[in-house]
Amino acid sequence: METVVSGIRPTGNLHLGNYFGAVKNFLKMQENFNCYFFIADYHSLTTHPHPADLHGNVRQILAEYLAAGLDPEKATIYIQSDLPEVAELTLLMNMNAYLGELERTTSFKDKARKQPENVNAGLLTYPVLMASDIIIHQASKVPVGKDQEQNLEMTRKFANRFNRIYETDYFTIPQPFNFGESLIKIPGLDGSGKMGKSEGNGIFLAEEPASIRKKVMKAVTDSGPTVPDSPVSEPVQNLFTIMEVVSQKEVLDQFKEDYAKCIIRYGDLKKKLAEDIINFTAPIREKINAIAADDAYLRKVAQMGKEKAHASASKTVKEVREIIGFKPF
Ligand code: TYM
Repeated sequence: METVVSGIRPTGNLHLGNYFGAVKNFLKMQENFNCYFFIADYHSLTTHPHPADLHGNVRQILAEYLAAGLDPEKATIYIQSDLPEVAELTLLMNMNAYLGELERTTSFKDKARKQPENVNAGLLTYPVLMASDIIIHQASKVPVGKDQEQNLEMTRKFANRFNRIYETDYFTIPQPFNFGESLIKIPGLDGSGKMGKSEGNGIFLAEEPASIRKKVMKAVTDSGPTVPDSPVSEPVQNLFTIMEVVSQKEVLDQFKEDYAKCIIRYGDLKKKLAEDIINFTAPIREKINAIAADDAYLRKVAQMGKEKAHASASKTVKEVREIIGFKPF
């Protein structure tokens, strides 16, 4: 059975981008693959979260994973920092990751620009930690959104390089994965760019209907098409893209046709979009709070995941140590 690995940083509640770029695939994959889904709390340290917030953020994502339908009986669900083997593998993989290639990574350059006061070494070696997350379980498929494409390329590069240097075919070379084939990017409501936890443009699975309505009604559009069949502007296309994942196809087709005929009413588009988002998120939202309040259940899930993930990770690290040439006396 093929192995699947993916993770989400605990840096805020899950939003529609996380759901449609990643979690939706997790739910399908847990039925037929050997899955490891984790919460990337080591990775979240690159932005220096306050110690008092860290545990609560991890708990929240765990509760949201479960509320969205991840099943601890089907998938191994764990917390990254419960697996110190990942840190050891990262140290070993760091020896074959080169400064130039790490500095050229788009996400490193972005973060260095966004937090110039905190360009830490963890930001630079972020792709090495991510590669270790994936190869530690010998994953062949990694369900992620489009924004993770470059990180996945780095993972493939590091795994291939290890195999070459040590003249082995030990590591499986993973592929990014989405059931809809190409990786997706859910846009924000602010006219351009992707929906992100830190961009302030997200709609969250845990969000109350009134707040969703307010955000959608304020979404950026354009001043309206004036020439029939003109190309759809970026902000309106963004709303269509979100509609594509939450609404019926006929509804979207009707709005597209209205746009082409220059009779589209953005108020109607937004009202319908808000209601469809609310219908989609409501069943998940209703479960989140109950699960988040159930300490015993969360502890049990995390413990179970930790044991299963540890079994797989410790085997890999032991074998990697042997390949590298460490020998017990
Ligand atoms: P993170 O926490 O930023 O996002 C988690 C997942 O959600 C996807 N995603 C999106 N997909 C579509 N549209 C969007 N607007 C959108 N925003 C986020 C991301 O692509 C991702 O799949 N580095 C990773 C976490 C990570 C990881 C890993 C992932 C650490 N180790 C190993 C896979 C395998 C990250 O920061 O994701």
